[in-house]
Amino acid sequence: MVRRKSYLLAIICFLLALVVVSACAPNPRLQLISPNMVVLAEGETFVPPTPTPRPRIAGLSDEEILAGLPQNIVALIPGDAERGLDLTVPHNCIGCHVTDNSLVDVAPTWLEIADTAVGRAEQLGLAGPALYLYTSIINPNDYIVDGYTSDVMPETYSEDLSEQDLADLLTYLLSQRAE
Ligand code: HEC
Repeated sequence: MVRRKSYLLAIICFLLALVVVSACAPNPRLQLISPNMVVLAEGETFVPPTPTPRPRIAGLSDEEILAGLPQNIVALIPGDAERGLDLTVPHNCIGCHVTDNSLVDVAPTWLEIADTAVGRAEQLGLAGPALYLYTSIINPNDYIVDGYTSDVMPETYSEDLSEQDLADLLTYLLSQRAE
């Protein structure tokens, strides 16, 4: 009888311990800072991962693509995509960005960046993908892509790039889309 009692007691203690331990375990769904554990400074907005199914720029009209972009830049689009690509060398964009899925630990890929920009603009409530790309170049710390930190991309492009440079770069980036 005594033996049975202590056996029962042991089981109860074990179950109690189980309840206590599971109550103390951290809830993996709870987000403490941001999903990528980056503390954002004032004025920075976290860009969440691209949703599935992936949005495509091919379904948008020119007006929808260019919505919200400053008129002086819109007036120069379409620019020269080839010149835009050439500019990525002296301005060192390609030192960080690549057009495939290698090296994505340095900076977000430019593989199908036009399609990516459609999703980012939607998530951020921006007028269109061109405006997202434009802002990402001249004010890189306005939107921080999931998995990356601010203050990596140079903040000097708004001074270094002319309106024509920006229009050509945007024309190049907007051409990087899924077939
Ligand atoms: C020193 C590295 C570095 C250089 C040089 C650089 N970038 Fe970036 N870029 C980043 C990083 C890191 C991010 C992601 C963090 C953020 O959103 O600011 C980024 C983000 C971007 C984005 C947004 C990408 C996305 O997936 O939403 C665009 C567009 C972009 N860069 C364009 C450019 C262009 C154009 C140039 C050259 C004129 C350039 N970058 C030069 C590091 C760089």
